[in-house]
Amino acid sequence: MPRRYGESTRTLRAATPPARPGAPVSPGPVPVSAYHLDPEESAELDFYGRASNPNWRQLEAGLAELEGAAAAVVFGSGMAAITAALRVLARPDSVVVIPSDGYYQVRRYASESLVPMGVTVIEADHQEIYAAAESADVVLAETPTNPNLDVVDLHRLAGICRGRDKRLIVDNTAATPLGQQPLALGADLVVASATKALAGHSDLLGGYVAGSRPELMEAIARERLLSGAILGAFDSWLLLRGLGTAGLRFGRQCANAQALATVLSGHPAVSSVRYPGLPSDPGHALACAQMQHFGALVSIELADAAAVHDLVARSELLVSSTSFGGLHTSIDRRARWGDPVGDGFARISLGIEDTDDVIADFTRALG
Ligand SMILES: Cc1ncc(COP(=O)(O)O)c(C=O)c1O
Repeated sequence: MPRRYGESTRTLRAATPPARPGAPVSPGPVPVSAYHLDPEESAELDFYGRASNPNWRQLEAGLAELEGAAAAVVFGSGMAAITAALRVLARPDSVVVIPSDGYYQVRRYASESLVPMGVTVIEADHQEIYAAAESADVVLAETPTNPNLDVVDLHRLAGICRGRDKRLIVDNTAATPLGQQPLALGADLVVASATKALAGHSDLLGGYVAGSRPELMEAIARERLLSGAILGAFDSWLLLRGLGTAGLRFGRQCANAQALATVLSGHPAVSSVRYPGLPSDPGHALACAQMQHFGALVSIELADAAAVHDLVARSELLVSSTSFGGLHTSIDRRARWGDPVGDGFARISLGIEDTDDVIADFTRALG
């Protein structure tokens, strides 16, 4: 390196390769904005980080492959992905069905942003959704639902929507594409938070929309470009790194969930256990028909809020956290977020700990 440069220039140049459009993410200028002298030459290249970046291509190809989709578009969070899909599909005179028993912030978005735009929003639970779909333009379903883990029959719902030429969006966050393939069951779009089990390390937020209709996916990508709800280049890279171990992690997490749900079903301190993998669960038959894994979430009902707090205090492994899908087994008392559940209702997200350790820890902590 020429000695005529000062120290700062030299260390900067030592740390960063020359700007090369299409190069993988680096601390250099390429992912944010490569400068091209010739507009003809740069038309196909990454020219600005809100429009494209090379890490997205890798990530989107991987997510599309996992979801069985022709394409995927990544976003800065699950909510960014869900709301982009709703903005693309909902018109001011549309009727949109959203889950009354699903992730609560979707209901907030619908009432605070879609309703003022003139959209008619209908909230329906996992049982009401089929009838509601009969008169809807767009249906957003979530299965298993967060936090009750009820299962929606996607094949049946897709049949209703397709028969009326209406669009079905499915939130695949809890099941992940390893546990469920909504597009194969007839959905038009999958939306999901990648913040959870796919990223898996509780250190970033991300989301995506996946689908196979070119006109829809182009509109989704355009919505991202213009709304700017992008996933940063570094979080894309971290998400890619997490995704590489998602299969291993999710397999262990689901095995831990099945084992814990089975043990807690017979525990005197637990009045109810919800897990689609339990033969006694109301959603089990449906889950067997449409899921390849039953998921990493187990919901339980204890006596009251104090009982949940005691469980956390006595446990050595449990982390109190509202997100889920991470490496550690975690728990969230959902009534504090206003979910329509009892005070002692807790959603547990199983981590990658050894199954025997998780069972022993819960058994000890529940007393
Ligand atoms: C089912 C479901 N969908 C969407 C989201 C939103 O994801 P994010 O927090 O990445 O925006 C969540 C978050 O918990 C969720 O549980």
